[in-house]
Amino acid sequence: MSKRSDIDADKLAAWWRTDIISIAPGQIRMRGYPIEELIGRIGFCEMIWLMLRGELPSPKQASLLQAALVAAVDHGPQAPSIAIARMAMTCGLGINNAMASAINALGDVHGGAGQQCLELYEAIAVLTASGVSLSEASRQEIERRLDAGEHIPGFGHRFHGIDPRAGRLLALVAEVAGSDGVTGRFKQIGEAVEAALAQIKGKTVPMNIDGATAVIYGELGLPSPLARGLFVLSRSVGILAHAWEQHEQGGRIKGPMPPSVSYRYEGEALRHIEEANR
Ligand SMILES: CC(C)(COP(=O)(O)OP(=O)(O)OC[C@H]1O[C@@H](n2cnc3c(N)ncnc32)[C@H](O)[C@@H]1OP(=O)(O)O)[C@@H](O)C(=O)NCCC(=O)NCCS
Repeated sequence: MSKRSDIDADKLAAWWRTDIISIAPGQIRMRGYPIEELIGRIGFCEMIWLMLRGELPSPKQASLLQAALVAAVDHGPQAPSIAIARMAMTCGLGINNAMASAINALGDVHGGAGQQCLELYEAIAVLTASGVSLSEASRQEIERRLDAGEHIPGFGHRFHGIDPRAGRLLALVAEVAGSDGVTGRFKQIGEAVEAALAQIKGKTVPMNIDGATAVIYGELGLPSPLARGLFVLSRSVGILAHAWEQHEQGGRIKGPMPPSVSYRYEGEALRHIEEANR
């Protein structure tokens, strides 16, 4: 029978149990690989895959993940996340606070739609597996969401007519399809959603970066919540670059518009507390 102190030590060790990393004095192993063997031999993208999946990716898998991460790094100072990072820097915050503030703006509508988009693709995949045609499954899932008053995640863009990132990412999926577990199925689903949405709305609502990266994450077998996490990883690069550029430019308390540009006040005309009926 084990002594009480043994049981406690075992319980304590299990408190933060992990398959990711083991460390001992002078030794760091990631998923079993000594860190000194990984350094200089694998890229950052392969490291991300190893950390998330437990194994090293094939070169084709790594190239697709890398493409998705490269595509989403930045969308300029009018993207709320980037603007927030820059404004935060002019408020005297540290770079980590500026980055955290920006990342907190990445949600269902801005930057985080990849997660729901992949959930949509997965729902369509389930329907088609039960014998429903791809076009019918897409129509059903889109109508269900539109009837609930939702936008279809991963489609539409305030600025671009056609998002230049989406077509390029889908072309890369087509190049790899048929090997290393990439079937091209999620690409077909994404394209079917775009076609069905155009038919239902009577106008094109093109696939955006979140719709295209959701195709890639689906093809790579990544669970949908990771689509959002990976977008955050990617956009963090742009957020950091803009925060630093703002730091170098200087500026204090920059708001979303120059002070010379006023916002519109639509409330009550001037009134006085003495006139209030109370
Ligand atoms: C990105 C987004 C906010 C841009 O919106 P926008 O261009 O300002 O478009 P609006 O919301 O004003 O809609 C304009 C028209 O296009 C339609 N539309 C735009 N995106 C749509 C979408 N994703 N699903 C369904 N209809 C959409 C609207 O219904 C509206 O149609 P209407 O004229 O018949 O009313 C919007 O497309 C959206 O919410 N997309 C889903 C979320 C997403 O993918 N975000 C990541 C963006 S990179």
